[in-house]
Amino acid sequence: MKTLQVDLGPRSYPISIGSSLLGRTELFSPHVTGRQVMIVTNPTVSSLYLKRLRPALANYTVQVHEFPDGEEYKTLEQLLPLFDQLLTAQFERRCTLIALGGGVVGDMTGFAAACYQRGVPFIQVPTTLLAQVDSSVGGKTGVNHPRGKNMIGAFYQPQAVIIDTDTLQTLDDRQFSAGLAEVVKYGLIRDAPFFDWLETQASALMKRDPGALSIAIARSCEIKADVVAQDEREGGLRAILNLGHTFGHAVETAMGYGTVLHGEAVAIGTVLAARMSLQLGGVTPQDLDRLLILFQRMNLPTQLPSQLTADTLLSLMQLDKKVEQGQIRLVLLKQLGEAMISNDYPADLLSQILTVSL
Ligand code: NAD
Ligand code: GLY
Repeated sequence: MKTLQVDLGPRSYPISIGSSLLGRTELFSPHVTGRQVMIVTNPTVSSLYLKRLRPALANYTVQVHEFPDGEEYKTLEQLLPLFDQLLTAQFERRCTLIALGGGVVGDMTGFAAACYQRGVPFIQVPTTLLAQVDSSVGGKTGVNHPRGKNMIGAFYQPQAVIIDTDTLQTLDDRQFSAGLAEVVKYGLIRDAPFFDWLETQASALMKRDPGALSIAIARSCEIKADVVAQDEREGGLRAILNLGHTFGHAVETAMGYGTVLHGEAVAIGTVLAARMSLQLGGVTPQDLDRLLILFQRMNLPTQLPSQLTADTLLSLMQLDKKVEQGQIRLVLLKQLGEAMISNDYPADLLSQILTVSL
């Protein structure tokens, strides 16, 4: 098992990464507050992993709440039955919520924890690759609004992140690939040698080789923890973690939540950001080719869905959380391995990038 630390002063917490961690009491107990535990999950994950998790919580009074499965249910409305159950079961302020699932369950449970009685502790137990390398770490929690992704939420850090890498073996291929898009992101924004390594390990990763996977997860978490420790509430640096996301969120919203997976939308958005960076002299044509080939080997989409127009995407991008005084700020690449945040690009370049599908 590998343990990393997210250094946030009094809100610091460990990330444990390894095999067969779900049932291990000693990993959970130090981070459980009170005697009441609500495991929050969904029917898919519950049927696969609830039994494995339960022994770790044998000494607590445990209830289970299931959200319906799907990005389209990541709404404020779906939180109400969870609050009802917490109140009906008289969960006190000294209780703990445990998010067992992918990024949807994790983001929703974290937000519920931030709100219930103005804040109760929670633990992230991510079961998708995307959640293990990204959404479970860093404390961004929330739900979607019909007008925009993750528009209602809070920064609220977990007490611990417990990553059992065995859970990845049951993930379907499309979801697995979607998680790899976020892994590639870390190489692009912060670590060129990691990008090189991903190229050499693409086949092993696609075969879900446990050794390659744990290295990829650990390096991704390390980079994310480092960025979050420097800029918890996204005053500046943290925005680089959103490479491809301004484009990607617009694609997700325009296509209808759940149609294009978050990681797939990020892959499309990352290619668009790289194309813009190329036009601005940030990356080379060879870098762009390497990215396209890597995403293709990972079975990730690299083109905008043909039915989306530049106008639709631009109006959705105006809703991005990085917009300042109406200016869309984009995460671009200074070079492969280094990101920058910019609103300094020719106005027509963005529309051109959204129109030309190469
Ligand atoms: P998801 O939570 O919808 O999970 C994908 C699917 O896999 C679901 O059907 C789920 O039930 C199923 N599943 C989960 N674990 C499984 C397993 N081990 N075996 C088989 N099936 C399993 O999607 P996701 O990709 O994990 O997360 C996407 C969400 O994360 C988006 O809402 C996105 O906005 C959010 N996100 C948040 C952050 C953040 O910093 N908070 C970062 C990135 C993404
Ligand atoms: N996923 C982007 C962030 O956590 O900041």
